Amino acid sequence: MSLPRSVRLVEVGPRDGLQNEANPVSIADKVALVNDLTDAGVRHIEVGSFVSPKWVPQMAGSAEVFAAIDQHPGVAYSALTPNLRGFEDALAAGVRQVAVFAAASESFSQRNINCSIKESLERFAPIMEAARANGIQVRGYVSCVLGCPYEGVISPQQVAVVSRELLDMGCYEVSLGDTIGTGTPGATRTLLEVVAARVPRQQLAGHFHDTYGQALANIYASLLEGISVFDSSVAGLGGCPYAKGASGNVASEDVLYMLDGLGIDTGIDLDRLIDAGLGISRALGRATGSRVAKARLSA
Ligand code: HMG
Ligand code: MG
Repeated sequence: MSLPRSVRLVEVGPRDGLQNEANPVSIADKVALVNDLTDAGVRHIEVGSFVSPKWVPQMAGSAEVFAAIDQHPGVAYSALTPNLRGFEDALAAGVRQVAVFAAASESFSQRNINCSIKESLERFAPIMEAARANGIQVRGYVSCVLGCPYEGVISPQQVAVVSRELLDMGCYEVSLGDTIGTGTPGATRTLLEVVAARVPRQQLAGHFHDTYGQALANIYASLLEGISVFDSSVAGLGGCPYAKGASGNVASEDVLYMLDGLGIDTGIDLDRLIDAGLGISRALGRATGSRVAKARLSA
């Protein structure tokens, strides 16, 4: 398969990235990050989560962040919602796109959202209904698609079944999460071939954590499999609080550098994206996790 001419990057740094920060990040710093990402040309930003603050304290205040950001037309500003309560809070905060998150692993589902896979899908049903009634778009996630921190190997068929269920429920797209970053390009291609037998490739996205340094290679493998939507995290921020040792998503700057080099259009300006990553890194008091940003700094 040939490479796509354009790719949609979903920036998950403000959510997947910051949810795993040890130190609290101020509302002002979160707002500045989202605004910088918008100014860099990012067209989909996952801004926060409406989850229990006891489970993920770093995402408390997501409503305030939504209220303060500059929302540009044509840009999707989305939030995670694990249950109807989260959805209603998101709706009240003016959110127009949400994401529900399931897993391909039973143990991860229990640890992350305290219920089985089947129960999680049942919990999403009222969200889907309320979303339809309010004209809200819903994205779906499947975690642990290339391995689970508790169960190890996960069958691609199981990923395909959960992905199909999410689409049948009304999700417009399913993002496949390599939560612990153990996937390699060969396993990624096999996974996508199995899942694509049940879900059209244009409704699939790749969400690669870079724990084992495989994320860019996995994205390239996915491009060759006809996938053209990828999640990434500016400055490589992040991890997952329920997947011990999981490092951040692949750095957005590094993905963009690769896509620019391949002549694939994203609409995002690399220099401005690097600046957005350096801004949040400064606010966090640590070095950027983007190799491209580091190289530019030392050039
Ligand atoms: P639970 O304890 O089973 O739920 O948690 P509950 O209904 O019994 O409620 C417990 C308490 O939470 C109650 O408060 C509720 O009011 C409150 P209390 O009475 O104890 O004071 N509560 C809420 N508060 C705020 N917002 C809500 C909400 N719902 C209940 N929406 C629950 C179940 C799903 C709530 C919990 O497990 C949870 O919040 N989990 C979130 C986990 C999470 O955010 N994980 C990280 C995101 S997923 C991820 O990173 C993976 C991804 O990146 C893809 C990949 O990499 O694979 C997407
Ligand atoms: Mg993630």
